[in-house]
Amino acid sequence: MTQDEMKQAVARAARDYVAVNLPAGGILGVGTGSTANFFIDELAAIKGQLGGTVASSEATKKRLEGHGIRVLDLNDVDAMGIYVDGADEIDHGLSMVKGGGGALTREKIVAAVAKTFVCICDASKRVPVMGKFPLPVEVIPMARAYVARELGKLGGTPKLREGFVTDNGNLILDVHGLSISAPAELEARINQIVGVVTNGLFAQRGADLLLLATPDGVQRYQR
Ligand code: A5P
Repeated sequence: MTQDEMKQAVARAARDYVAVNLPAGGILGVGTGSTANFFIDELAAIKGQLGGTVASSEATKKRLEGHGIRVLDLNDVDAMGIYVDGADEIDHGLSMVKGGGGALTREKIVAAVAKTFVCICDASKRVPVMGKFPLPVEVIPMARAYVARELGKLGGTPKLREGFVTDNGNLILDVHGLSISAPAELEARINQIVGVVTNGLFAQRGADLLLLATPDGVQRYQR
């Protein structure tokens, strides 16, 4: 089974989960990345059931609208039943590293609103300790050098994501060389650095359900 076939399988499983668990007319949050893109393509089949969606990036908004799926402004939404998104790494407690696609801030905002966060990924993303995938940190441009120095003090090696600007007009520092044994603590610590908008650790609000694609089928892990 190729990685794309696994992403396709988990996207289908997530569509089925939404079809069963999101009440008719409910609002769905939609993530960003290649796995989320497979999910968006599957979602077209049940779009009649959705009251609307909230997109976690401009790219996701465009793809949803391409399928004729209604996209709402988060400020017009009081409640969101489910948020479906991928991850770059996920540990056994369902904490995640996200932001490989640079959409971490909007993803974290949408995740905060959602009642249930469903993470979809292939087996390569599930790890005992996160940190091999560089941790993305979104920073206000004028604070880039200061934040990089502060991140260095935490033991990581920050590298500017060259030629990349987020949907919010900010920069990304990718922090290499971390071994993340206490994700919620590190998430809070990095957020305290002035000039940081968000970091890609999703531990304080991790996933509630992981749908994991493996060569033997899609496995479920509940928080
Ligand atoms: C986007 O910013 C990320 O958080 C993605 O959710 C994450 O990078 C997973 O992407 P893939 O599904 O492409 O691996």
